[in-house]
Amino acid sequence: MQFFLDSALVDEIKYALDAFNIDGITTNPRHVQVSGKPFLTVIREIAKLVEGTEKTVSVEVNPHFMTYEEMMPEAEKLAAISPNFVIKLQCVEPAFKAMEALAKKNIRVNCTLVFSAMQALQAMRSGAYYISPFIGWKETNGEDVQGFLDDIVTIRDNYDFDSEIIVAAVRNARQIIDAAVMGADIVTAGLSVYQEGFHHPFTQEGIQKFTQFWDKTPYE
Ligand code: E4P
Repeated sequence: MQFFLDSALVDEIKYALDAFNIDGITTNPRHVQVSGKPFLTVIREIAKLVEGTEKTVSVEVNPHFMTYEEMMPEAEKLAAISPNFVIKLQCVEPAFKAMEALAKKNIRVNCTLVFSAMQALQAMRSGAYYISPFIGWKETNGEDVQGFLDDIVTIRDNYDFDSEIIVAAVRNARQIIDAAVMGADIVTAGLSVYQEGFHHPFTQEGIQKFTQFWDKTPYE
C-alpha cells in the first residue's frame, strides 16, 4: 500500500519525503489556500520536490469549472507543467467525458469527491487513473464506510479496471489499516495522522523501562 501526503505545505512535504519516503502528494483548494501562496506558485514548488521520480502530485482543476469545455484546457495546461501531475477532476457528469478524453492524451486524472460506489464505477469506466473516495466526510455524516470501500475495491477487481483507489480524507490509523485490509492501493492523509499512527504509548513505556534496566547494567 502506498502512503500519500495530503498537503500543499512545502516544508511538510519535504519532511515526509525524507522521514518516511511518502509515495505521492495530493493537494486540494483548501491545502493551497493554507499554504498562503498562489496556486501555480505552490504546485510548481511541489513539482520540484518530486522532479525525476515516479511520485505523483494531484492538483485540482478550478472547482468553478463544471463543463467539459472548461475542464479540458485547464487540465491540459496543468498537466503540461509537470510529468508528475495527476489532474483532479470533481466527480460530476461532465468530468467523465473529460476523463476519457484526457486518458486518450495520456493525461492522468484523479477523480475526486467520490461518495458512492456508482460514482466510482463510472469514473473507472471513464479511465480515471485514481479514484478518491472521501471516507472521513462520510464517517462524520454517519454513513457506512467499510461497505463503501469494500464495494469499490470489489468492483475494480471484478472487472480488472486499471484505476487505483486512493482512500482520502483519512483521519486516523484505524482507517488506514481498514483500507489496507480491504485492498485499497493508496491512502492519503495529513502528516499528523501518520505520525500519530507510528506512535504507540506502550512503545514509549517500553523504552522508559528498558532504559532504566540498561542504566543499571554494566556494558562490559
Ligand atoms: C484528497 O485528495 C483530499 O485532498 C482530502 O483527503 C480532502 O479531505 P480533507 O481536506 O477533509 O482532509
